Amino acid sequence: MTQVAVVAPKALWYLTRATGAVTLLLLSAAVVLGVLTSVQWASPTWPKFVVAWLHRNVSLVVLVFLAVHVATAVIDGFVPLRWIDAIIPFSAGYRPLWVGLGAVALDLLLAIVVTSLIRVRLGYRSWRLVHWTAYACWPIAAVHSVGTGSDAWRVWMLVVDAVAAVPVLSAAVWRVTTRSLGPVAAAGARG
Ligand code: HEM
Repeated sequence: MTQVAVVAPKALWYLTRATGAVTLLLLSAAVVLGVLTSVQWASPTWPKFVVAWLHRNVSLVVLVFLAVHVATAVIDGFVPLRWIDAIIPFSAGYRPLWVGLGAVALDLLLAIVVTSLIRVRLGYRSWRLVHWTAYACWPIAAVHSVGTGSDAWRVWMLVVDAVAAVPVLSAAVWRVTTRSLGPVAAAGARG
């Protein structure tokens, strides 16, 4: 019984860390797929609608892993974190700056997803303005990870960081050097 009591909270904390790493990787995949969608990239095996579908669904899976990341951190109770700290930046009693950056990333993600769901009513320009913050969301989440993660300087986490960062940086460079394709591309982004 005592063993369960000791192991269970530990398991939650491990889950916080594991889901943090997976969320970062998935966020990178969502950003790269978003760039591919906006430049209307396609190949015989990856038609445009598949890329757009993947972009939308990987983004939704990011939210699922992020929810588990936050829930396990709060429920675990190992550090003083409240649910509200995940939404209101810099309000946490635990590493307020670094956890606060995680909250900023979460708020940006929520804004991106909500505006995408109501895009038809919102209009293309407003939707796109919010969607551009996805580029800020990624580095903010990455800084949160390095600042607060217990594993930040472990080799496996550095590998995760590199696997997450290289494609995003390459895609961002490609995006700024590639002509914008306007609303048609955005229609693909909605999938
Ligand atoms: C898009 C948003 C987020 C991403 C991509 C993300 C990702 C990560 C990553 C990769 C780590 C490092 C894990 C490790 O070193 O093993 C981490 C740590 C952590 N995150 Fe997040 N996170 C996000 C948002 C949040 C939010 C909103 C909270 C608020 C509760 C939060 C709470 C924590 C805590 C408490 C840790 C420290 C875990 C430890 O000490 O290892 N994160 N996060």
